[in-house]
Amino acid sequence: MTGELSPIDKAKFVAAKRAADYVEDGMRVGLGTGSTAAWLVRCLGEMVRDEGLRIKGVPTSTRTAQLAKEVGIQVVSLDEARWLDVTIDGADEFDSELNLIKGGGGALLQEKIVATASDQMVVIADIGKQVETLGAFPLPIEVIPFGWQTTQALVEETLISMDVLGRTSTLRMNGDTPFVTDEGNHILDLHLNRIGNARQLALVLNQMPGVVENGLFIDICDAVVIGYGDGKVEVRDINEGTVEESRLDFVETDNLFTDLAD
Ligand code: A5P
Repeated sequence: MTGELSPIDKAKFVAAKRAADYVEDGMRVGLGTGSTAAWLVRCLGEMVRDEGLRIKGVPTSTRTAQLAKEVGIQVVSLDEARWLDVTIDGADEFDSELNLIKGGGGALLQEKIVATASDQMVVIADIGKQVETLGAFPLPIEVIPFGWQTTQALVEETLISMDVLGRTSTLRMNGDTPFVTDEGNHILDLHLNRIGNARQLALVLNQMPGVVENGLFIDICDAVVIGYGDGKVEVRDINEGTVEESRLDFVETDNLFTDLAD
């Protein structure tokens, strides 16, 4: 089954598999959203089933909640869990300081709330997500539907004075209609090309009425687990200042690879 996986999917899988080591019995775990996070949820589901791991999972989207339930993870709300031991999630870009762009899957709001409510946030990503400077990936911001075009104009106007290389934005669509997040909002994707001062931009965006949250995760991520297509895995811990390398073999377990939709 793994022979059918592309190198990028293998990279995502090994990153997720290695990151599952962060999860211990009894933990409350934030479960990210996206194709890499889906591997993590499946790995944890396997550990629940085969090793008797007992965890409470707090999903960051309805998609992840559904998958977590399917694989046998006990799902609780953030309000029930209150505080989490670790959140493991994907990212669209990460830089050397482990600042991130997230929200390519439209779940940035819940993802940021859950990650911020965790002792530790671990990002899982293939090496293609690593960048020198954030911004090639369009920056998602979640906006209130009311007056979204006014908000868009205000955001574009504000970007003139920001350290970015572009200032156009597009409303994310789902077919012919605007994409709607789990919180009932819309997403504007900002085509900035290069973000010179991500910290400043994140603060400025969140001060605008109509903007609920932005996809810049600054000083939130503690470690990144980077997967490569050949099974190599690198763990960079920003707090410890450590880098560890290992290699994971692809174990063809039908349970994990069957029915993989993402
Ligand atoms: C979801 O809103 C995003 O933040 C994802 O975590 C991010 O887009 C990474 O997704 P993939 O793992 O599918 O690349």
